[in-house]
Amino acid sequence: MIPQFPNVNFIGNKEKIAAWITSFFPPDAKSIFDAFAGGNSISYQSKLAGLQVFSNDILRINYMISKALIENKSERLSMKDIDIIFTGEPVKGFMYENYANVFFFPEECMQLDLYRENIEKLSSDYKKAIAFSLLRRSMIRKMPYSRFNLNWEQITQLRDEQYSYEKYQRKRAYHNKSFKKHFLENFLEYNCAVFDNEKENKAFNEDVFEVLEKVEADIVYLDPPYTGTMNNYFGFYGLIDEYILSEKKQPFEHHFMDKKTAIQLFDTLFSKLKKYKYWFLSYNNSSFPTKE
Ligand SMILES: C[S@@+](CC[C@H](N)C(=O)[O-])C[C@H]1O[C@@H](n2cnc3c(N)ncnc32)[C@H](O)[C@@H]1O
Repeated sequence: MIPQFPNVNFIGNKEKIAAWITSFFPPDAKSIFDAFAGGNSISYQSKLAGLQVFSNDILRINYMISKALIENKSERLSMKDIDIIFTGEPVKGFMYENYANVFFFPEECMQLDLYRENIEKLSSDYKKAIAFSLLRRSMIRKMPYSRFNLNWEQITQLRDEQYSYEKYQRKRAYHNKSFKKHFLENFLEYNCAVFDNEKENKAFNEDVFEVLEKVEADIVYLDPPYTGTMNNYFGFYGLIDEYILSEKKQPFEHHFMDKKTAIQLFDTLFSKLKKYKYWFLSYNNSSFPTKE
């Protein structure tokens, strides 16, 4: 069975064109550094193509996806692991204290707090990474527009199935399914996506400027946030990092959103690429700076 990239649902992902992008990789290249890995579609496609893959992203949750699907060769979640994650009564923890009636209802926050505690009981970091990746997917499915920069009024309105139906002719019932139900619906897909390409693949969770000079690879693939397109990745997904780390986080400094600093960031970025033989950059026409 050929392993398949699971449903990650990442804003700005390259899933649909991943095979097209990697088809341009030169045949003599044996390794790739996916420096802004996001949902890991390019890392995964490269792993399928037999390359040694190094993945990096500044967001902890994207690093969890890299650990689960790129670095991990064989560990999967068992039914016993699922029992461990979902056993017990909801508790008042970080999510309840900070985000009840902000992103989720109080009872839902308490469920997340219980699952967070239980994930620690899993026997390996790879299992934990799969569990976080699946919980991420569940949290995102329950969240209108799949991102965490909406206010509670918008969220409750869009989660009101009657309102949503009257206004948009869509009930969006999946926002009101439980985390557990979403988790169980996706767990086989994530388990089956784990495979070994007989290379030592590795995940990093650092600012790109810290890690570029540490990694040795033939190709560097750059897919930064596109300046000028409102791609605020901390705003979209920072909440999930806070959940994993059980602490409040600050937006990252080098976020590529600001036109005033973009040129300088690209300059610094390119100046650190000398040792990579092949450079690939994804960008779009309406972003700043232009191709020229
Ligand atoms: C356009 S997305 C990458 C999408 C990815 N290629 C995919 O297929 O899913 C850009 C990513 O860059 C990450 N990022 C932003 N600033 C960063 C920085 N300074 N260092 C490392 N990663 C950063 C964001 O967290 C986001 O995941």
